[in-house]
Amino acid sequence: MMQLFDVYPLQDITIDRAKGAWVWDAEGRKYLDMYGGHAVISIGHTHPHYVKRVTAQLKKIGFYSNSVKMPIQQELAKKLGQLSGKPDYQLFLCNSGAEANENAFKLASFATGRKKVVAFKGAFHGRTSLAVSATDNPKIIAPVNQTDHVIFLPFNDPVALERCFSEQGNEIAAVITEGIQGVGGIYVAGDAFLQKIRGLCDAHGSIFIADSVQCGYGRSGRFFAHDFAGVQADIYSVAKGMGNGFPVAGILIGPHLKPWHGMLGTTFGGNPLACAAALAVLEVIENENLMTNATAIGQYLADELRQLPSIREVRGRGLMIGIDLPDELVSLRKALLMKERVFTGEAKPNVIRLLPSLGITRDEADLFLTKFRELL
Ligand SMILES: Cc1ncc(COP(=O)(O)O)c(C=O)c1O
Repeated sequence: MMQLFDVYPLQDITIDRAKGAWVWDAEGRKYLDMYGGHAVISIGHTHPHYVKRVTAQLKKIGFYSNSVKMPIQQELAKKLGQLSGKPDYQLFLCNSGAEANENAFKLASFATGRKKVVAFKGAFHGRTSLAVSATDNPKIIAPVNQTDHVIFLPFNDPVALERCFSEQGNEIAAVITEGIQGVGGIYVAGDAFLQKIRGLCDAHGSIFIADSVQCGYGRSGRFFAHDFAGVQADIYSVAKGMGNGFPVAGILIGPHLKPWHGMLGTTFGGNPLACAAALAVLEVIENENLMTNATAIGQYLADELRQLPSIREVRGRGLMIGIDLPDELVSLRKALLMKERVFTGEAKPNVIRLLPSLGITRDEADLFLTKFRELL
């Protein structure tokens, strides 16, 4: 019998069905999902509008290739431009976060004719070729992906960035940073740091790539976490929350970056079913004011958590929260899952990541806090 390639350490749980912020296992036990399947569930599991729109699209046509006109792609671009506050940007659709970043790098290199990329300590940008090379985890970089094109600098350090640009600014194609580092442990990029990136990219003709795969799509309370700094990136990469579980991703590309035929391409990217899923997500975010909810519930959770004893630090924005725990509480996350039936995410060495649906209610947040306090 064919076996699965065993790359994931698994929880001994089978999830069978889900609704809103809740999932049920095969034995019918109910869990509060504060993890959202890794920041993917943006509008809540099996949201009725989402199910309806995706089902209707599937009955009509699920797939055709990018060789024909697809009005639903235009519709998605229009809605995304409007909700993200970037109506003059262009949209290229693909299938995953790594692929989005890969296309962003490629575009930056085409546009500048340069090869070097600046990335930061603690960054995660995906597992494909240049995306993994720009990820600060040597363990997952295969020999074939090792390159001297990537320069790693300390995160949130404008001085180091300035020094790097003064030495080799005319070779740098792009600077890439998450607005809030996710896998790295929920560290917010400071306003001054993001403004410095913008300024140096402008001065040296480099491209600012805002990796918004995890922190984007309203999770921080703004559409892009980078928006807090009041600067525009040249390219925003989006994925995870974009399809609420349907694999859809993209890059939003500034109006000054011009395409040519064949520059980028994809088989599956932007298919009608993916667009229907992405449109359903945006419609729900808008109609149910989910960004406002993310701000309010996120602030409430963070404020309450900060009052608890024994926690080292609470970091993040909106519904992207990191609870940094001391070593003696290393088993807390496991206990949350097994005893209290609450899914959360983790970051090394000992950070619990909360990445729930943006539609999570105050009651659900209170329930989480009660369970968390009990365990503490
Ligand atoms: C910030 C960031 N960028 C890129 C990726 C890669 O996305 P994907 O797994 O969809 O390729 C991730 C995934 O965790 C991420 O958190």
